[in-house]
Amino acid sequence: MKVLVTGGSGYIGSHTIVDLIDHNILPVSVDNFSRSSSETLEGIQKICKQSINNYDIDISQADELRKIFELEGDITGIIHFAAFKFVGESVKEPLLYYRNNLNGLINLLDCVKKYNIQQFVFSSSCTVYGNPDQLPVNEQSPILPSQSPYGATKQMSEQIIRDFAQNSSCKFSLLRYFNPIGAHPSAMIGEGSKFPPENLMPILTETALGLRKSLTVFGGDYPTRDGTCVRDYIHVMDIAHAHTKALSLHFQNQNVQTFNLGSGQGVTVLELISAFEKATGIKLNYEIGERRPGDVVAVYADNRKAREILGWELKYSLEEMMSTAWQWQLKKNA
Ligand SMILES: NC(=O)c1ccc[n+]([C@@H]2O[C@H](COP(=O)([O-])OP(=O)(O)OC[C@H]3O[C@@H](n4cnc5c(N)ncnc54)[C@H](O)[C@@H]3O)[C@@H](O)[C@H]2O)c1
Repeated sequence: MKVLVTGGSGYIGSHTIVDLIDHNILPVSVDNFSRSSSETLEGIQKICKQSINNYDIDISQADELRKIFELEGDITGIIHFAAFKFVGESVKEPLLYYRNNLNGLINLLDCVKKYNIQQFVFSSSCTVYGNPDQLPVNEQSPILPSQSPYGATKQMSEQIIRDFAQNSSCKFSLLRYFNPIGAHPSAMIGEGSKFPPENLMPILTETALGLRKSLTVFGGDYPTRDGTCVRDYIHVMDIAHAHTKALSLHFQNQNVQTFNLGSGQGVTVLELISAFEKATGIKLNYEIGERRPGDVVAVYADNRKAREILGWELKYSLEEMMSTAWQWQLKKNA
């Protein structure tokens, strides 16, 4: 099976390419390196000991995108990661987000029709659940108004796919990620971007390395067990493997399925800091700051559907998420 991976040089795309190759699926990547570096592809090549075919193309350019399908000829599946992902940036530059995240998707769906694609896997996010009233959230939990243009692009993308799927024989898996962290155990690839990180884990490892003076925990007075926000952290290789599983999913009556990809465990920010300290032996310098506008108090997944229907199992513990993220940070700065 040959699969087009959009955003193959990004954080989750690169780990997924490694998992696909491990399972004898041939990936073809398209990434314009707008948010990543070509070094990531070199990392994948070192792990897999084979070269990765990447098209340096902006997928929002429809003609350019079609050329890939014409040149490759036998692509039967698409895994679509390529999108911008920073909540704060999306508030400042909403059109950038709507243009990039929605145009890319629409162009790909045109290709689904034109080139008879059978399987389409889409990167959605737990942001679609907003600030949920009931925990854990399952796939039937209400979709609440989005807190940011980024979140809105994920909700709109899901809707566009559902509408399109009504007249398509392609099978669509919408994977709602919770908080992917960690890195490949080889430390050859991991989380990185051309932009300063907005999420906790890379900020935490940068603080541990001394690249930042201290880590600010946003809010210590939330109604949670220690006053800090609760999230569902999951190892990026576990997320990656769910994509491989989704490609061979046999759909029954409907051709769109939604899956929560989380560990099912709610972990507070302070618990994450303590897990990092325990896994690495490093004491972190942190302070409790003001709440950050737009942050949800607590969200974690009911992941039963992914386990039962995808046959997906979690392999990595919280400790391994910490140690692989740390090894990657050390390698990056060596
Ligand atoms: N990382 C997370 O915490 C998280 C959580 C939920 C959902 N997601 C979603 O998962 C997907 C992958 O996330 P990630 O963390 O790997 O992000 P990332 O920024 O590391 O990777 C995205 C890749 O897509 C590429 N790209 C972006 N726009 C492009 C375009 N128009 N044409 C070609 N390439 C383009 C970038 O260069 C980058 O390499 C995104 O859709 C993101 O919204 C991520």
